[in-house]
Amino acid sequence: MRNFILTLAMSVMACTFGLCAFAQPEGCPVIPQVSSYSPQGCQSLPLPAGSTYKLDVQKGTEGLQVFEEYLAESGLGLVPAPRKGAKALVRFKVGPKALKAKDGAYTIEVGRKGVVVTAGGFKGAFYAVQTLKQLAAASSDRSIPYCKIQDEPRFAYRGLLFDLVRHFHGKEFIFRQLDLMSSLKMSVLHLHLTDNEGWRLELDCAPEMTREAAFGDSLFFHTILSRSPLRFATEPEGYVSGTVYDRNSVYGGYFSKQDIREIIDYAAARHIEIIPEIEFPGHNKALLHVHPEFFCRGEHGVDNVICAGDDAVFDFFFKVLEEVMDLFPSQYLHIGGDEASKANWLKCSHCQERMRAEGLKDVYELQSYCIRRMDSFISAHGKKMIGWDEILEGGLSENATVMSWRGTEGGLESIKKGHDVIMTPNTYYYLDYGQDSPFKEPVAFNTYLPLERVYSYEPEAEIESGASHLLGVQGNLWSECVITDGHFEYMLYPRAFAIAETGWSPKGSKDYASFRERAVALCKQLKGQYNCFDLDNEAGDRPEASVKRPCITQNAKAVLYSAGKSSIPAEGKDVSGLVDGYLGGWAMKGSDDWIDAGRYATTVDIDLGEIKDIHYVGAEFVDYNLRGMGAPQDTEFYFSADGVQYELAPVPQLKLNSDRKYYSIVTAGGTVEAKARYVRLRFNTGKAKNRVYLGEIIIN
Ligand code: ACM
Ligand code: ZN
Repeated sequence: MRNFILTLAMSVMACTFGLCAFAQPEGCPVIPQVSSYSPQGCQSLPLPAGSTYKLDVQKGTEGLQVFEEYLAESGLGLVPAPRKGAKALVRFKVGPKALKAKDGAYTIEVGRKGVVVTAGGFKGAFYAVQTLKQLAAASSDRSIPYCKIQDEPRFAYRGLLFDLVRHFHGKEFIFRQLDLMSSLKMSVLHLHLTDNEGWRLELDCAPEMTREAAFGDSLFFHTILSRSPLRFATEPEGYVSGTVYDRNSVYGGYFSKQDIREIIDYAAARHIEIIPEIEFPGHNKALLHVHPEFFCRGEHGVDNVICAGDDAVFDFFFKVLEEVMDLFPSQYLHIGGDEASKANWLKCSHCQERMRAEGLKDVYELQSYCIRRMDSFISAHGKKMIGWDEILEGGLSENATVMSWRGTEGGLESIKKGHDVIMTPNTYYYLDYGQDSPFKEPVAFNTYLPLERVYSYEPEAEIESGASHLLGVQGNLWSECVITDGHFEYMLYPRAFAIAETGWSPKGSKDYASFRERAVALCKQLKGQYNCFDLDNEAGDRPEASVKRPCITQNAKAVLYSAGKSSIPAEGKDVSGLVDGYLGGWAMKGSDDWIDAGRYATTVDIDLGEIKDIHYVGAEFVDYNLRGMGAPQDTEFYFSADGVQYELAPVPQLKLNSDRKYYSIVTAGGTVEAKARYVRLRFNTGKAKNRVYLGEIIIN
């Protein structure tokens, strides 16, 4: 008793002096961080299961029934107050009069008498429920700190892309992800439904597509990057739509229209819009397998691009898009537009005839013509077209919204042109890239986008004007390497938390230390339900990348010349970052520490500034077998005193291990004894014709 009185007295004193005896979180322990949070004293309101709620809804506010149904199964444990006039612990005041603010905004006040939520509509009320759920889950006793919260989304578009083609993931899996996405207040799920490896949407107008191109040789799917040939299979008997089929050497699956309706409804109840993507004109091996007549005439070296000169192809896509637009209520339809090779179009008589007839000066304008036709069709149906940033090539069609994936440049250019943009740069938001040391991680499509890098992306950083055209952000999970549901979740979480926070929380409010702490806590809460990456055991970037090595290259200048890579200018590219004494980290994309030298003969000239004693020369290369990246086989170093006469340095040739691993870093070079001012490194792609990534050049 004495202890109790003492504790009580201490806590009253602490409250009086603005301190809490029992630690209250300083910030709001939720993801995404709320716009404003002010703790109101030291106490918390217990919210046990069975707590009552009451709704004051302004007449004409839509969505009451869906909200109540959601609330009943939300896990917050609220039950309606038994009768009119009865007191309730949680009161929702919903309608434009309750809160005049941005769509999705809400306020929460928690105090002695209970919880009061205000929102302009049920979207805001739904988001308030997400905040309350996370607050209750963050405490050991399902209690919510006395506080005032005001919150609203920064961007309307806060999305994820699921690639369901390279590996299919079923309906139940999608429902589970929609639950977590909605808890993160995400607003869009973009479904990548057609591609080279399959067609995953059953349509009345083209039933042959799922019958003949939604299944294939399981060996191909299980080793998709081994470049074994893709062999399609006819739909196996007894297949149940919306599930993954993996039996008798056949792999695949698709969604029926009913599956899609269920997904759309489930998502809508969670304020998530489903945007479908139908790839065009490239990424279409599955279509061309079923409809080989849609190929270009004559020779066609490229096997995934439709013939742009054939009206039957357009008629097919119009039919498909019409049915897709009927099925998906979203105002957007994604048409792909990425990575379409123009090689066949240059040779095909139909494509050439189309170019003549339409006055198109090159194949880029032909691509633009294709996309414009789709745009007109989609716009005529009252919807909006989204395309990947390649749709800029040859001229952007009028109503297009651009999804910027090759870095941010395409998005920035589109904003300048007055188009709406969604930022999904592969330099930050490609969730198929590894998130930790490649020596520890499962095989990934690229290295390395750790949580901190994903979190660091500021979508408005490079925008000078026209920011209102930035609709928001999206993380993309391509599934070439992601076969199982568990692995899919592992790649998504917690990196999707970072994207959710960037999309929702106010500009300038980021704090990685706070975010990471909240992410660790949320992963713990999700344990047993979702397979999150283990942040507690994050190894981090390559340790050698942060330690300066002894070198004699201070102030040295390095210039790289390429025999063919078009992004390297003829006068050479300054790569002095490759001689700064720091080895490259795990990241190759978006890093100055690795140079993509392509498949070309490459020379790097280094000027040390004066004649120096040299005892060692070496150069690092990535050997990333899986992605066709490898070390060159004929690497040579030369020394020169005057930059004119060069002598070959007697260092051993790089020996490649024939037993190549998924990922390794190899070093060419060795010890020497020489005096020189100039060092030249030359290499060429070896017999394997790998793309070469050059890292640090070490001279000491
Ligand atoms: C893409 O990654 N090709 C959009
Ligand atoms: Zn053609």
